[in-house]
Amino acid sequence: MVDQLIPRLEVQPLPEGTARVAAAFIAERLERADRENGRARMALCGGATPAPTFAHLVEPMRSTAWGGRVEFYWGDERFVPSGSPLSNFGLASSTLLAPARVDPDRIHRIVTEGAANAPAAAERYETLLRAQPGFGATTFDVALQGIGPDGHTASLFPGDPALQELQRWATGVADAPQAPHVPRITLTLPALNRSRTVIVLATGREKASIVRQALAPACEGVARLPAAQVQGTEETVWFLDAASAASLPP
Ligand code: 6PG
Repeated sequence: MVDQLIPRLEVQPLPEGTARVAAAFIAERLERADRENGRARMALCGGATPAPTFAHLVEPMRSTAWGGRVEFYWGDERFVPSGSPLSNFGLASSTLLAPARVDPDRIHRIVTEGAANAPAAAERYETLLRAQPGFGATTFDVALQGIGPDGHTASLFPGDPALQELQRWATGVADAPQAPHVPRITLTLPALNRSRTVIVLATGREKASIVRQALAPACEGVARLPAAQVQGTEETVWFLDAASAASLPP
């Protein structure tokens, strides 16, 4: 029981190696889910870090039977049109979904168009998620997350009320304290933490301090950083490079 509560660290010397190893791990977990359930569900994150990992996933998604059955979701989205350079869907589409020729029926993006505001878009995504067959005790087979300089993950920012949401699976975030400063839609901890495997991807020296803080043992009475609060029901794995792991204790 305790094992899945303790994140496992996979550290490669360089970011390219981290992307390659993370992609291979994700492919293995998705293939296993497909073998067990006939389909696999993955939640994608945004930001700059995952693009190389997405690129390494193109081949398995395009050339395997199981890859042709993976369903894609998002852990968060900016409240912008899908064509905006800020769109997390746009990033995944250009680096993974389009190159892998993923069937649009298997792409379940957070639709912002036509929604009055981020909460309304979150409401719509919640309805979509709850209509997915078998979504409940388990949400995603793999949830891929990043960590921001303040320790946020998805669009769950330190101190934000969204972190306290224990019923809903998606919610709106009015003011993102980290760039881009646009409203967001984010999955909540209950939704993310019903994933079988949670992966946190972090590379680069600028992430070393926040990675150390996030992975530090919990201190009595001190709120854990959002990225430290995401954990899979079966496992939580942090994929790092030497630079982002540089401040961790030996
Ligand atoms: C987003 C992401 C966010 C991201 C972190 C890290 O919408 O921005 O989902 O949680 O993972 O901000 O971003 P970088 O990879 O760019 O450092």
